[in-house]
Amino acid sequence: MTIRVTFRPDNNQPPVIQSPLPRETAQIITPVTELVGIGRGGKNNSSSLEKDKDRVAEILAELEAYIGLETVKRLIRELQAYLEIQKRRTREKLIADPLVLHMIFRGNPGTGKTTVARLVGRLFKEMGVLQKGHVIECERADLVGEYIGHTAQKTREQLKKALGGVLFVDEAYSLARGGEKDFGKEAIDALVKAMEDNKDNLVLILAGYRLEMEWFLQSNPGLRSRFPIHIDFPDYTLDELLAIGNSMLKSREYELTPAGSEALRVHLQSLLNTHPYAGNARLVRNLVEKTVRKQAVRLFQKPSSSREELIRILPMDITLEDL
Ligand SMILES: Nc1ncnc2c1ncn2[C@@H]1O[C@H](COP(=O)(O)OP(=O)(O)OP(=O)(O)O)[C@@H](O)[C@H]1O
Ligand SMILES: [Mg+2]
Repeated sequence: MTIRVTFRPDNNQPPVIQSPLPRETAQIITPVTELVGIGRGGKNNSSSLEKDKDRVAEILAELEAYIGLETVKRLIRELQAYLEIQKRRTREKLIADPLVLHMIFRGNPGTGKTTVARLVGRLFKEMGVLQKGHVIECERADLVGEYIGHTAQKTREQLKKALGGVLFVDEAYSLARGGEKDFGKEAIDALVKAMEDNKDNLVLILAGYRLEMEWFLQSNPGLRSRFPIHIDFPDYTLDELLAIGNSMLKSREYELTPAGSEALRVHLQSLLNTHPYAGNARLVRNLVEKTVRKQAVRLFQKPSSSREELIRILPMDITLEDL
């Protein structure tokens, strides 16, 4: 079922979703003149709608289980509620607000951008907003070619793969790096055209570091208003990194002893003091993987191990070497 909402030029309504801005985090959703159809999944019998609702609830529960990301969680919950209400309004033949779902994700490496993009894709699919909900991740090299015509062809290929889902362009600011004469400009133009042409069946997410993305949006006037949803991914705090480490170990059926827990805190603190992108969950994942291997080497030296020993992580298993 495709429902098109007609734009009213005199539409002078307040922002679609507004919420107080926390400290460092800005999230902006403004009404724009673009429209997307809502309910494109073609699911309209009641049992399949119920199943979709269950799956939406599952995905939202998965989102809740991620450590931190409070603003992201709130925004996604708001979006989900908003889309659902627009659907209900449309069923009652009420005016449904225009809504664009293209997004800008700003944050340092390892702060959860790709993870959230994948979840958003799945969520929009279950809500009938996208047909497939898959995520195609690409970066400058996948979009920008080396000779005239090459960029258009490369960008088209990525767009084609992403149709029905999300095209996630990492380090998107690098497309504007070379200025006016660079082929990156051509890729930006092609993306902009595609987001208009395929607004019913494609969500474009441009991601990158905060300051670079700000520069990128400033140097390309007109882009900002095409991306009504801006999400900041702040660096994780020490406590959040610890919680992420603990949950990664738990899901692998390992457990830190109290002394192990203290050692993890000390190591993460020293990472935070020295690493340029320390508030970074990927570093924690690498640390956890290294820890598990070190524990294995320690246990391997004995002919057998108890269940307890196999689970327990001791301080000596944790090291920052090679991180
Ligand atoms: N809040 C979180 N809770 C648990 N694990 C997380 C969380 N955020 C990220 N991770 C894990 O950290 C790793 C890195 O996350 P992700 O790839 O989403 O980061 P990213 O922001 O896309 O990084 P990059 O910019 O380097 O691509 C993944 O393994 C992910 O599962
Ligand atoms: Mg990523």
